[in-house]
Amino acid sequence: MFARLRDVPPSASGRSRHDLPLGLAASVLTGFFNLSAAVRNPAPLPDVARDFPLQVSERRVVAHDQDVIALTLAAPGGGDLPRWHPGAHLDVHLPSGRVRQYSLCGDPGVTSSYRIAVRRIPNGGGGSVEVHDELTVGSTITTSGPRNAFPLTVPGYGSPAQRFRFIAGGIGITPILPMLAQAESLGVEWSMVYTGRRRDTLPFLEELARFGERIEIRTDDQAGLPTPAELLGDCPGGTTVYACGPAPVLTGLRTTLAGRDDVELHFERFAAPPVVDGAEFSVAVSSREDAIRVGADETLLTALRREGVHASYSCQQGFCGTCRVRVLGGEVEHRDTLLTGPEREAGMMLVCVSRAAAETGLILDL
Ligand code: FES
Repeated sequence: MFARLRDVPPSASGRSRHDLPLGLAASVLTGFFNLSAAVRNPAPLPDVARDFPLQVSERRVVAHDQDVIALTLAAPGGGDLPRWHPGAHLDVHLPSGRVRQYSLCGDPGVTSSYRIAVRRIPNGGGGSVEVHDELTVGSTITTSGPRNAFPLTVPGYGSPAQRFRFIAGGIGITPILPMLAQAESLGVEWSMVYTGRRRDTLPFLEELARFGERIEIRTDDQAGLPTPAELLGDCPGGTTVYACGPAPVLTGLRTTLAGRDDVELHFERFAAPPVVDGAEFSVAVSSREDAIRVGADETLLTALRREGVHASYSCQQGFCGTCRVRVLGGEVEHRDTLLTGPEREAGMMLVCVSRAAAETGLILDL
């Protein structure tokens, strides 16, 4: 999929605020689920962050419009790869130096390979086009992970969920795909709505056919843009919603579910979240003489890129660390969820989300 982006707080997983009583509710509701202890308490897997090479062993077109490809990645010499759970993603270091994050959309039970899927975005940041044009069968890339910021919290294991409602927009199907299989194997009630502009833009339709009417395919050309209520369906209390799609869809879901303390919402974004409560400031970089103005509603990263200043980036949401920059002057308003106190004290900041704390601005080591 193209680089998947997550909302910032309340949690890196995209869990919405109204699940704060989660631990208590989970312990109360655990007894409702007739699941084995092994299923309810799977051993948590550690996140793996080391770099390792993977080779493209298969490349397949998975949408009828030809614009989504699925890549199977395996260790060059074969062998098992680090394990993962549904919702995990892989950091992919592309030949150009770009780093992009793609959901693992294969079977977590397959230990010898990973699968990712990428939609070609001609006017995006260039990562998806590079994947489509450069990564052929036999290509070797550096990866790191898998990491999981969008975990499926199964009943009795951190979630009071009684049923799942999955909402996927286009390429947003990728993190959801393995979740469906897991929900199915757990015997948890679930339904899904899968949306997109047209049917031919939707990847993995053939693979999803086995789930039959549990999945509603709803395309804009046939039914118009869906409302949040239509996406949520009847959504009774005890439903946990997992959504991955465009920012306006996710915003609509969050607004509609505000006050619904009986429903959990977990989500991932496609695009950087809007700047909230931003103020204009200026930034100076060593590579140019004049200061750059950062608008109240734009990110520092956006302003740097607009002015042609090279700054690496990936998630654009303050959790991957790719855009880490050293601050030479000024006070930072940190808005990320990643940097530690010592890193901040050492003068590091993430320019995709963090800003100047004062109108006087920042001086960056760029
Ligand atoms: S781009 Fe990922 S933290 Fe900034």
